[in-house]
Parts: sequence; C-alpha cells; structure tokens
Amino acid sequence: MPVDLDNAQPLAWDSATLDPDTREMLDNLQPNILRAHVREHLSALFIRFNDASDGRRFLREVAATSMKSARRHLEEVREFARSGRSGTPYVGIGVSKAGYRDLGHSVEELRLFGDRVFRDGMKRRVGEVHDPAVTEWEAAYQREIHVVVLIGDAEAAPVARLREQILGMLPDSARVLGEETGRGMRNPAGDGIEHFGYVDGRSQPLFLADEVEREPRKRWNPAFPLANVLVADPFAPSADRHFGSYFVFRKLEQNVRAFKEIERELADALGLTGADRDRAGAMLVGRFKDGTPVTAKAKAGGGAVANDFTFDADDGARCPFSGHIRKTNPRFEGIRHVLMARRGQTYGERTDQPWDESPPETRPSAGVGLLFMAFNSSLENQFEFTQRDWADNADFLNPATGHDPVIGQGERDIKVTFPRVWGRPEQSLPQAQVSQTVTMLGGEYFFMPSLAYLRTL
Ligand code: HEM
Repeated sequence: MPVDLDNAQPLAWDSATLDPDTREMLDNLQPNILRAHVREHLSALFIRFNDASDGRRFLREVAATSMKSARRHLEEVREFARSGRSGTPYVGIGVSKAGYRDLGHSVEELRLFGDRVFRDGMKRRVGEVHDPAVTEWEAAYQREIHVVVLIGDAEAAPVARLREQILGMLPDSARVLGEETGRGMRNPAGDGIEHFGYVDGRSQPLFLADEVEREPRKRWNPAFPLANVLVADPFAPSADRHFGSYFVFRKLEQNVRAFKEIERELADALGLTGADRDRAGAMLVGRFKDGTPVTAKAKAGGGAVANDFTFDADDGARCPFSGHIRKTNPRFEGIRHVLMARRGQTYGERTDQPWDESPPETRPSAGVGLLFMAFNSSLENQFEFTQRDWADNADFLNPATGHDPVIGQGERDIKVTFPRVWGRPEQSLPQAQVSQTVTMLGGEYFFMPSLAYLRTL
C-alpha cells in the first residue's frame, strides 16, 4: 500500500501492523523531519562542490558512515525513555538547486521538483519576502551553496568528533564556504528559549501517534498529515516509499537590546505597572516569556507550557492580531496546510541571562540570534506564505493591525493600537509600529533527500 501522505491519523510508527511501505519510508527518511532530533549542540556546514563525481562520493560516504534513518531515531528515543541510554548524533544533508545541478542533474530533471521557489533558490526570492539585498548578506551566503550538512547532539563532544570525521571525507575539490554553530539555551524551568528570553519550539505540527497522545487536544488538534512536510523524492528509486522535505535555513540576527527597550517603552506607553509590565512583550510575541499564551491568561505562570488553545474568542483584546504566534499560526481550520515543522537553534555566546530582569543596556545588540530552520512540503505555500502574507502584511485578517513585531520585514508605515487592559475593548492611542529588531543575514533553500537517493549516488 503506497504511503498515504494525506492520512489524517497520526502515524503509529512502532505498531506491529505497520505496513511494509510505511516501514520502508521510515527506513529511508532522514531524521529530524517528522520528529525533532535533540540538537543542543549543532554544527551547520555549508559546502560547495567543484566536481560532480567527488561531490557524489562525499554524500554517499557521509550517508553510509554517519546518517541514521527516521525509524532508527524513533527507536533511539523510545530506548532513551525506557532505559536512559542516549542515542547517536544526528546528521542531516540538504542539497540546494545549484547543488543538484552540480551533482549532474539536468535542468529537465530539476523540473521534477514541484516547488518553484526551491528551483529559484533564496537569492532570487528576496523581493518576495522583503529580505535585505544579497550584497548585504554575510559573505558565505552570497556564494553558491550546494549542500548543508547538519550535525547535532545533546553533547558537544560527539558533534566535534563527527564534524572532524565528515570534514576529513571532504574531497580536495570541495570548499567549506561557511559554518554556523548552534547552542541551545534553557530557562530555569528547563524549557528551550530564544534570545529575547521567550520559550520557543513549543507549538509544532505533530505527525506521530505517540507524540500526539501526550498532548491535551480539546481545542487545538496538534496532529497533522505527513503531507505538511513530505513530498516524493523525485530522484529516488520509488516515488511511493522514498520521501524528502524542503528545508529553509535563515540566519536571523536578534538585536536583543533594542527588543528589550521596545518592551519597556510599550509597557510605559500602555501605563502597565508591576507584573502587568510583562504583558507588553507578551503582546508582541503572543506568549509570555514562560510560554503562557496571552490569549488565555493575563499573567504568566500556571504550569506546563500550554498549546491547547485557539484565538476564536479573542477579537484582539487579549492577543493582538499582530502577535508573532497569532500571525504565524492563527489557529483556524483553513490554514493548517501552512504549518511547517520548525527545527531552529539559537546561535551566539552571551554572558547575561536572557530570561532575567536585567536592564536593556546590558543586553547584546548583535552577534546573537536564531538559525531558523523548518521542513516544508512547499516553501512557497508554507515558509514564504507565512513570512510574506502573514508576518509582513499589516492588513492580515483585520485591516491595519500591523506587521509581526518579531519577524515582520518591509515598510512599517501605519500606526497601530494595543489593548490597554487585558480582555477589554479600550485601545491605546495610535502609535508607530515597533521597529525591526530581527535582521536576516543570509540563508538558502534545500531539499533533504531520502537516504535511498544518497545511497545510490
Ligand atoms: C513560535 C520566536 C522566527 C514562525 C514562536 C515562539 C517564539 C518565537 C518565542 C513561541 C513558541 C512556540 O509557540 O513554539 C521567534 C524569534 C524569531 C522567530 C525570536 C526570529 C529571530 C520565525 C520565523 C517564522 C516563525 C522566521 C516563519 C516565517 C513561527 C511559528 C510559530 C512560532 C509558525 C508557532 C506558532 C504556533 O503554532 O502557535 N516563535 N520566531 N518564527 N514561530 Fe517564531
């Protein structure tokens, strides 16, 4: 039975009755797509080949020596839950359009990729998503990147070892154009956070039955069909069993000092005092720092980070329409196909504690940020749609509600209002939108092929 990507039932991957095609799909799929792989320590290597057969040999060798399948990853996670035994590191490979061409695939063959945005590459899409001009990107990203190799683990040492090993396999004809080092950050509750200090990575489309079953799901259904992230790998032997995923990588620098100043100014402008001051930032992000959704509660706190909520009963008096999580997932039925699997990681060293109440002046204004990464079945209809039609669109859902204050790009020329009191209709005086504090420094679109493809290279 060919794998049905549209099946609304989450995948019971360890069921004894799993059909052989689905099993083969999982045996040939890269990990980290259907379920996040631990990657507290992450190295991302950006490589350019200059010889097709050398490039093919390198990818084949990395796949044979260092990559595990999605099914192996899931088994390791199960084993860890049972016995505490740690799994093996994650190695992922993404190939850009230019990379496929350099590996010897013809222009006709490349048309087999249904996503035209992937076929264009990120550099040709800057106008669409209001990115800075390519000449302003960091030098490595201005070059033609063929492949990204991701190496991740809970500990630093296995990543360092594997990185050396993989670099050792690199042919003389290839070049490492650039490298990013990701480093997870956690708050005192142990939740992963991003540099502005907010819990991140909580809301995800879930594809596996064991993950879905653990979630409260009265209001928001976290279960998604595989079609949100998987497409047939056009160059693998079987279109029914060998799948891949489009992967977006963006280096997003965060000006933490400016964001913290904005939180303070907004709290002042709204006359918020005491613990209520935290609501200023919560209205920008849509969640308080500890992850509490501002549509559900006026104050932070109250246990595990909630994800079982919608905005149905909120006309903007609790969570503004512009709030980052409302922009990027408005949580109504017709938009579920837009959601991607986010797998980002923070980068940059800090000496301060991102979650505490230290004044903005002590915060970094550059050198730290998010390596935004996400798996898509359509870059055009998921990542780009989210960025352009939602985050960068001041009229999204309701006219003149403003850009996404976290990731919005493009002219912020209208004025906006915020609710003065949580849940009440009184709005603040119109004020300029908050300025942009996240800057895209470069990136690329990749396809994460099936292992079946990499093995046959
Ligand atoms: C959720 C921060 C970039 C899409 C979140 C959350 C935070 C956050 C704190 C809440 C945690 C959660 O619900 O999981 C940031 C920061 C960014 C950034 C600081 C840049 C430096 C992006 C980009 C996109 C994006 C570029 C897509 C274009 C999303 C989505 C969610 C989310 C889809 C989940 C919304 C939901 O399902 O409720 N982000 N984000 N983020 N973000 Fe971002």
